[in-house]
Amino acid sequence: MEIEKLEPSADRAVIERIAALVNQVYAESEKGLWQGSTDRTSADEVAGFVRAGEIAVAFVDGDFAGSVRVRRLDDATGEFGMLAADPARRGAGVGRELVAFAERSCRAAGCREMQLELLVPREWTHPSKQFLAEWYDRLGYRVTHRADLAEDYPHLAPSLATPCDFLVYRKALA
Ligand SMILES: CC(C)(COP(=O)(O)OP(=O)(O)OC[C@H]1O[C@@H](n2cnc3c(N)ncnc32)[C@H](O)[C@@H]1OP(=O)(O)O)[C@@H](O)C(=O)NCCC(=O)NCCS
Repeated sequence: MEIEKLEPSADRAVIERIAALVNQVYAESEKGLWQGSTDRTSADEVAGFVRAGEIAVAFVDGDFAGSVRVRRLDDATGEFGMLAADPARRGAGVGRELVAFAERSCRAAGCREMQLELLVPREWTHPSKQFLAEWYDRLGYRVTHRADLAEDYPHLAPSLATPCDFLVYRKALA
């Protein structure tokens, strides 16, 4: 498996594949949370992240297999988000390697902590979110902030299909 940061000159076709994969996997992992069909991202938004040097991609045997957005929140804190692995390759380590890449690159840039955000339904358990909470725990991430999404992001409240909490996870980068 190879993980690399996408160059700002990346082909539009690659950018479109990333946006399509993110929307495909989030449609499942956020099923029931949003009203209607709410895409997580668009090719134009991903193109902006690529220009900012924030997108890393995974290749297995030369095939695109997943992606993640990595950025610095401040001098000491890195963040990853929009993590997506090809469902046809689930469990092959693509997700783990993308997270490891995000942590390595933030550590190399001088960050001491890593952060991620997870949206969860407040009144029921979503299997994808339950899997993620357990996996992030195994990777060493701990919840440092829990809030009502509608309070932290009021503009998103009308689109929610169910009350949701917004969890911030953090991990020290040794
Ligand atoms: C989260 C995601 C990127 C993980 O991708 P992946 O390539 O399957 O990840 P890995 O192969 O590294 O496996 C991750 C863990 O899941 C476990 N796992 C994999 N397949 C599994 C399965 N079918 N059942 C139970 N556990 C499984 C692995 O053992 C691994 O745990 P470990 O690291 O403790 O060994 C992928 O599930 C995904 O795209 N999800 C939808 C998008 C999403 O929710 N993103 C995160 C938003 S915060």
